[in-house]
Amino acid sequence: MVCLGNICRSPLAEGIMKEIVQREGIDWEIDSAGTGAWHAGETPDPRSVEVSRRNGIHIADQRARQFTAEDFSVFDYILAMDASNFRDILKLAPTEDARQKVEMIMNYAYPGENRRVPDPYYGGPSGFDDVFELLTHGCEAVLRQLK
Ligand code: 4NP
Repeated sequence: MVCLGNICRSPLAEGIMKEIVQREGIDWEIDSAGTGAWHAGETPDPRSVEVSRRNGIHIADQRARQFTAEDFSVFDYILAMDASNFRDILKLAPTEDARQKVEMIMNYAYPGENRRVPDPYYGGPSGFDDVFELLTHGCEAVLRQLK
């Protein structure tokens, strides 16, 4: 799960997807990262922690890190939150196989539409509720397709 800062959207995606695979009893490794390094080492944004908490998901132990080319050899699927993240991830892809691993997460729910998960960082708390709902929908679609 990859966004820009790895403090707002992708920590939510990681938490929601982990909750889903636990519910389903599936053994998938889920992680998140940001294309930027500004927030590396930080805990998720308090607004992401709060909306998760209200929905029974604990994400406060996550720590932000930057996405690296090495992630292509560790993970089978690399899911971007928006088109900018998508392009920045592709810039690091070493091979065509690696490129094929990258998709925008909402395309699992809305194939080919390239819908984004909007960056809630500069908005109010309601943006985080919207993102939580979007990502729940996206992650359930990921489960249906990849299970
Ligand atoms: P995220 O949100 O990509 O969903 O983690 C952002 C967090 C921080 C910044 C931008 C987006 N920032 O510019 O610091």
